[in-house]
Amino acid sequence: MEFSVKSGNPEKQRSACVVVGIFEPRRLSPSAEQLDKASDGYISNLIRRGDIEGKLGQSLLLHNVPGTLCDRILLTGCGRERELNPDKYGKIIATATRALNEGGAMEAVFYLADINIKGQDSAWKASQLVLTVEDVLYRFDQLKSEKDAFRRPLRKIVISIPSRRELAECEEAVLAAQAIANGVITAKDLGNLPGNICTPSYLADQARKLAKEHTNLTTAILEESDMEELGMGALLSVSRGSRQPAKLIIMEYRGGLGDESPAVLVGKGLTFDAGGISIKPSEAMDEMKYDMCGGASVIGTLQACAELQLPLNVTGVIPSSENLPDGDANKPGDIVTSMSGQTIEILNTDAEGRLILCDALSYCERFDPAVVIDIATLTGACIVALGHQAQALLSNHNPLTHELLNAGKQIGDRAWELPLWDEYQTQLDSNFADMANIGGRAAGSITAACFLSRFTRKYKWAHLDIAGTAWKSGKKKGATGRPVPMLMQFLINRV
Ligand code: BES
Ligand code: MN
Ligand code: ZN
Repeated sequence: MEFSVKSGNPEKQRSACVVVGIFEPRRLSPSAEQLDKASDGYISNLIRRGDIEGKLGQSLLLHNVPGTLCDRILLTGCGRERELNPDKYGKIIATATRALNEGGAMEAVFYLADINIKGQDSAWKASQLVLTVEDVLYRFDQLKSEKDAFRRPLRKIVISIPSRRELAECEEAVLAAQAIANGVITAKDLGNLPGNICTPSYLADQARKLAKEHTNLTTAILEESDMEELGMGALLSVSRGSRQPAKLIIMEYRGGLGDESPAVLVGKGLTFDAGGISIKPSEAMDEMKYDMCGGASVIGTLQACAELQLPLNVTGVIPSSENLPDGDANKPGDIVTSMSGQTIEILNTDAEGRLILCDALSYCERFDPAVVIDIATLTGACIVALGHQAQALLSNHNPLTHELLNAGKQIGDRAWELPLWDEYQTQLDSNFADMANIGGRAAGSITAACFLSRFTRKYKWAHLDIAGTAWKSGKKKGATGRPVPMLMQFLINRV
């Protein structure tokens, strides 16, 4: 999609469509008011007759409205003005986008920046518009022989803002949002690809390809023999259950000064999680192809950094493997030695994410990181605790927690903190090794983070459990691209 920003009167737009808001009950937004004046009360008449109430989700397409220069006007319901919030603002844009894409207009001017959202400026509205439009229009049809093509797809969007003075900052916000949206698309595509295509080698190839496209982005791949030398016994033990070789993908984006410590992002890249010998029930097991969404979000974020040429150093680390049952797979009770030297009793082979992450986290020490953030579809318990709205956040550094929470709030990709208290650590006690890889039924997401915390003592670290936010189940099954927006906002705020 092509986006641009401008400022001007709605009745003067020579466009295929002008989009304006209507509040419930039957009240005009400032731009709708302007069109109404220019058309001698055409819109207010129609509203009085009850054609649109202004409820969230409603829309009404008008043609050839007198006194205007555009072909169409799309009235979009905004709900009650007093109840507006960031989430509803997204729903308004989504409604308008769907209506436009199904209609005949291939370009449109959005007059939705005149709607007041408490605490948000035009730049925020422009950014949300870009992110929402790209989210709504996303399709994953690369593996369908017949693509669901639109007759006249939307191609060009102009974002109209009330004041010329904000033009420069809105344009900058749009550029950033486009890069973020592209990162989200990459993360969605990788997540939606099935396990037979998106293997650890495939992820490594995609990371390599990205490095070829950007000069200050490099990719290196560690093979199993390299991991052997590094003593990554935990990661390798998971990979032994699969015929696909594990990969440790290292991506380095260098936009900052040479000696500046990088922010390191570590993403779980488990391309299919059958559970191993502690095999999962077969219902909805297909969804375990999404177990690499943490890794996908790291690739998407690095892509966005490179596209934006963010003046920052960012390193991505993706341990990637399958988790399958095989004659050589981990068995419950097996004890492995991690790169840190700590031994782990594997009581459940399905708690494999922490096994591949712990070695990747030890590896991160060599980067002298400013911060390390790991992103993982780590526990089903996280969905029970927080649902699909918020990712869980646990950290050993309070300021980092707040940076991440705020970034998520800012861009609408939110996290919620869970306690990483010492009191939970004893649940990982093992009779035979330094620790067990599971902590029992209680507080499953917290004990998983406790496990990781034993490998991150040397730096500032935060863990994001995205099991609930990385994809949607049911009819709209698919990857969401989260938390690329949150990570990008976090990095942008650090510049
Ligand atoms: N990838 C799963 C976590 C998961 C489960 C994500 C469901 C999304 C939906 C992870 O590897 C796993 O299997 N975790 C186990 C841990 C348990 C054995 C302690 C889980 O959550 O059941
Ligand atoms: Mn598992
Ligand atoms: Zn898993």
